[in-house]
Amino acid sequence: MTSILILNGPNLNLLGTRQPDVYGRTTLSDIEAMCRAKAAAMSVALAFAQSNSEGAMVDMIHAAKGTHDGIILNAGAYTHTSIALMDAVSSVELPVVELHLSNIHAREEFRHTSYIARVAVGVICGFGAHGYELALEAMAAHLEASA
Ligand code: DQA
Repeated sequence: MTSILILNGPNLNLLGTRQPDVYGRTTLSDIEAMCRAKAAAMSVALAFAQSNSEGAMVDMIHAAKGTHDGIILNAGAYTHTSIALMDAVSSVELPVVELHLSNIHAREEFRHTSYIARVAVGVICGFGAHGYELALEAMAAHLEASA
């Protein structure tokens, strides 16, 4: 069975109360439940994780090799700063879909740079919590096409 890891970065544990005008009122556990239902309907195995720590995220990306077939990565602010996460993605050679709730290109200049995009199959941003479902569909289609 195809297995996908959804990895969330810093501050995403606060979804629901964090800047709801930007990120919406859906909590991360609501999103997890939504993703689990979607994955079950697609017959895909799902792991869902969040960390506020860059090193822990690097470790989780390493551990995904041999366990999961692809990673959906909302790296939060580390998207814009982390060469370590970019290198981790390159090192494991797993397909990655970069994901953001907000449209990072319509926001501050510093959010327009993504180190993850350089090593991602594609990027989904601006669709709020629904983006997670879109990312699952995109990853499953990518894996099927490359099988
Ligand atoms: C985010 C966008 C990032 O710029 C920001 O730092 C986040 C959340 C998003 O999902 O829209 O923490 O990744």
